[in-house]
Amino acid sequence: TMVAILAGLGGLLLGSIPFGLLLTRAAGLGDIRAIGSGNIGATNVLRTGRKDLAIATLLLDGGKGALAVILAAPFGPTAAALAAGGAVLGHMFTPWLAFQGGKGMATAIGVSLAMAWPLGLGLILVWLLMAAIFRISSLAALTACVAAPVISWLLADFPGLAPHPERTLLIAIVGVLVILRHPDNIRRLLAGTEPRIGRSNKG
Ligand code: G3P
Repeated sequence: TMVAILAGLGGLLLGSIPFGLLLTRAAGLGDIRAIGSGNIGATNVLRTGRKDLAIATLLLDGGKGALAVILAAPFGPTAAALAAGGAVLGHMFTPWLAFQGGKGMATAIGVSLAMAWPLGLGLILVWLLMAAIFRISSLAALTACVAAPVISWLLADFPGLAPHPERTLLIAIVGVLVILRHPDNIRRLLAGTEPRIGRSNKG
């Protein structure tokens, strides 16, 4: 339907706002894509040494995903799901950045919080637990992505959440997409060269 298409497009548009790039550029730090991993996300913004900008990037990249879902939700679960998928895809394949955007973890958490807050909370807890133990952002993200469909499945038809199993299928797809955006990180993790949170690294 028209509404579903508009929800997906709206999500894509919101998701395509590259906050990490815009904030670091506005702060006079140059092009974030030439720093550290080259990613536009909060983890790489932190490598500039600006914790405030990293936190802002995290909140805004998550917030745009949540907003897309919140705006689409009144039009039904299909519209909300398309907005969620659109936001994550817009963040990853950003038209204004030659379709080379971010890795999608913050936006995935944002859409999860808006679709099913216990799922979003679960992802945050898995991320924090892994980050606390290993101090590696990508490892925490990859673990959260694997856990995402499991958490959604366990929540099943928890009252007030976007409907399972559609929600679980969506978050599984989102998780796979985020994992597929981490090939360099996976290579470095296997080589034992992936930097700890806040430390610098090369692409
Ligand atoms: O969420 C992104 C994170 O998992 C990895 O970021 O900059 O270390 O590649 P980065």
